[in-house]
Amino acid sequence: MKLRFLTSAVALTAMLLAGPVAAEPILIKFSHVVAENTPKGQMANKFRDLVAERLAGKVEVKVFPNSQLFGDNKVLEAMLLGDVQMAAPSLSKFSRYTNSLQLFDLPFLFNDIAAVDKFQNSAAGQKMLNSMRKKGIVGLGYLHNGMKQLSASSPLRTPADASGLKFRIMTSDVLAAQFEAVNATPLKKPFSEVFTLLQTKAIDGQENTYSNIYSKKFYEIQPYITESNHGLLDYMVVTSAEFWMDLPEDLKGEVKKALDEAIAFGNQVAMKKSIEDKQKIVDSKRSEIITLTPAERAQWVEVMKPVWKKFEKEIGADLVDAAYNSNK
Ligand code: SIN
Repeated sequence: MKLRFLTSAVALTAMLLAGPVAAEPILIKFSHVVAENTPKGQMANKFRDLVAERLAGKVEVKVFPNSQLFGDNKVLEAMLLGDVQMAAPSLSKFSRYTNSLQLFDLPFLFNDIAAVDKFQNSAAGQKMLNSMRKKGIVGLGYLHNGMKQLSASSPLRTPADASGLKFRIMTSDVLAAQFEAVNATPLKKPFSEVFTLLQTKAIDGQENTYSNIYSKKFYEIQPYITESNHGLLDYMVVTSAEFWMDLPEDLKGEVKKALDEAIAFGNQVAMKKSIEDKQKIVDSKRSEIITLTPAERAQWVEVMKPVWKKFEKEIGADLVDAAYNSNK
């Protein structure tokens, strides 16, 4: 008894001498599925570094790339359970939580990234960041990757060339309808499985940006890439409403500022990568990049565009119009 008292007294004295115990920094685990040398990978690392510089000891960001922690199909559940605090899934991966973001998957909706920017910065685009609030998800900002191209084991010049082929798609019904429109078979599969599916010829092709095709080496096993620019691959950086509400106001402001700066940086990387990574693929001579003639491209537009009508009601005709008008 006497010994236990003595031990406690010694421990207490040691604690008092050591001074107040420093509080642990608030941890933000940021989980994503792409390589570090991509627009999203670079954005997440920049965010981590800016937070480390400005909020040392108060907030710490740990980035988990390459589906190390969670694949995109699981990450939102994990975020709602508090196992990660931030993620940036592609806009095609939110359909369990909102219909409206399906807008961004409509084929041939945006002519270029300038039109995407114009729409995302508009009141309608900004409102969509809050479209999952009721489900506990807060959108903190959009991030670009770029326009998607089609890669395949055989050359694709016209929609007839895609007929009967199997394409991996993200978890989006719009993307499924887009491939069904050309009589192809869409398969919803996680990003982490695409390389193996292509390598084992379980699928014939996939759609993605030059940055993902290059960084995940799809070009090494897909001999043809058709520069279709038929769709968009963009992201929403999200957190859980619970985590965001609990974050003290002063820190929240600093975290958001760092994130906005990181997103601006990531968007610059996206612009550069869409040119540089395409060139690296060309230089590798592993995959031929097919440029469509205007007449060939018009055929893809003609068969894929009816997908808009199919989803117009779910998404909202006003949103489709607003997005389309951002091309002007
Ligand atoms: C990503 O860029 O986050 C992944 C895209 C995909 O699943 O194809």
